[in-house]
Amino acid sequence: KSILIINGPNLNRLGKREPGIYGAKTLDDLQLELEKTASELSFHVSFYQSNSEGEIIDYIHESSGNHEGIVLNAGAYTHYSYAIRDAIASVDVPVIEVHLSNVHAREEFRRESVIAPVTIGQISGFGFESYKLALQAFSNNVKLGE
Ligand code: DQA
Repeated sequence: KSILIINGPNLNRLGKREPGIYGAKTLDDLQLELEKTASELSFHVSFYQSNSEGEIIDYIHESSGNHEGIVLNAGAYTHYSYAIRDAIASVDVPVIEVHLSNVHAREEFRRESVIAPVTIGQISGFGFESYKLALQAFSNNVKLGE
């Protein structure tokens, strides 16, 4: 199984960015840890980060026919990007939304996810573990509506 992991805006700043909220580890550390988890689950993972909405949309489109699932941390786009939501709805690839921080325990605007309704579900608040739990969910063959 091939899983696409997409990290959105500002996640390239992990390790430097608000470490009290997002931790001291970097995006490279995340990639290394997820490659390890993926190999334990016999998954192939592709790892992308972009600060631009259009590029994230292109990654989602290109997943169709190439990947069996997407783990998406859309960063702040989560809260207002109808374009990313529509991109998810346009492909038949199941998406799990992840967040490092608990978006429900922070500012009010972070509580809303405009993408959540078109994903299998949201995993929020477990740091790097949020992504690992998402990979685990794909390994258990979770599907939308089941
Ligand atoms: C985030 C939460 C978002 O609200 C924020 O804009 C981010 C990171 C997280 O992983 O906790 O950029 O998606």
